[in-house]
Amino acid sequence: MEFLFAPMEGVTDYSYRLAHSRFFPGVSRYYSPFIAANQTCSMKTREKEDVAPEHNSGVVLVPQILTNNADVFLWAVDQMACRGWKRVNLNLGCPSATVFTHGKGAGFLTDISRLDFFFERVFDGLASRDVEISVKTRIGVEDPEEAGELLRIFQRYPIAELIVHPRLRKDFYLGEPDLDTYQLFYEEYRGSLVYNGDIRTPSDLRALLRRFPDTKTVMIGRGLIANPALVRVLQGGEEIGNGELQAFHDEVLERRLAALQGFQNTEGKMKELWYYMGDLFPGSERELKRIKKAHSLEEYRAAAAKLFREGRISAGAVPRT
Ligand SMILES: Cc1cc2nc3c(=O)[nH]c(=O)nc-3n(C[C@H](O)[C@H](O)[C@H](O)COP(=O)(O)O)c2cc1C
Repeated sequence: MEFLFAPMEGVTDYSYRLAHSRFFPGVSRYYSPFIAANQTCSMKTREKEDVAPEHNSGVVLVPQILTNNADVFLWAVDQMACRGWKRVNLNLGCPSATVFTHGKGAGFLTDISRLDFFFERVFDGLASRDVEISVKTRIGVEDPEEAGELLRIFQRYPIAELIVHPRLRKDFYLGEPDLDTYQLFYEEYRGSLVYNGDIRTPSDLRALLRRFPDTKTVMIGRGLIANPALVRVLQGGEEIGNGELQAFHDEVLERRLAALQGFQNTEGKMKELWYYMGDLFPGSERELKRIKKAHSLEEYRAAAAKLFREGRISAGAVPRT
């Protein structure tokens, strides 16, 4: 079984991915948070740095692009190809209002004929390029009934992998994944299908495989941020311990301090990690609060060290999604 690390804007930056791949081998591919390719055909410095080969050494990266314009997408494909990336992912899932109202991300799912035309142009353009296209999608915008029509479009093109997060745009990340609608993809999609959503524990994976036994690949986001050793655990390996988590955390911190030039730019990102990782430490609410309230690097380091020293990781903890 293959495991993919989901893109998470603001969380899975290159510092995180590098540290993760060093500490926890087992992830087949890491997906970059979306690069918002726009009409001006330019990338922000942060985006360029995130996909630079020298910042991803040893990591199999699939850069993700957010656009609804085929020419802009092909421009972005070329940008990625010249950096050595052989597969590029299209974001059809971002639910945020600013993205959605511009008809991008999940907003692109509102205009099926435009999506069809987009793919036609893109796959024409790909004939002269040595790059594969992967797609990450939701099952619709407002109504699960939309899924059938979407599936029909996806079937028409040689998409290298179709990653399905079975929620509607209106669900954002709430509620249960809609496995009845996912079943349609599972039964009918002829290409390579990847399941994504709410895999946090071995029992979540077992339940998925009971219902969809031919699943070969799953993509995991929040469950892996909460427990960076999750893939190892899913493969029957050892649970994570305080020392290992601390060493990993410290490496992410040091890499980010260097990449983002100091604590001011790093603070929010480290605290966002704790939003998920904190679930491993039930009963350590006071220590977790100290981390949240730390306003200097010294305070932050001291608060994190105290948690790693005194907190107890619960192997049975089920992180939130
Ligand atoms: C904070 C946050 C940021 C995300 N950023 C992206 C993104 O940049 N691109 C994308 O395709 N999905 C993004 N997602 C969605 C995840 O990749 C994933 O599809 C979703 O979290 C469901 O999988 P999970 O339950 O394993 O986390 C984001 C999700 C969260 C919570």
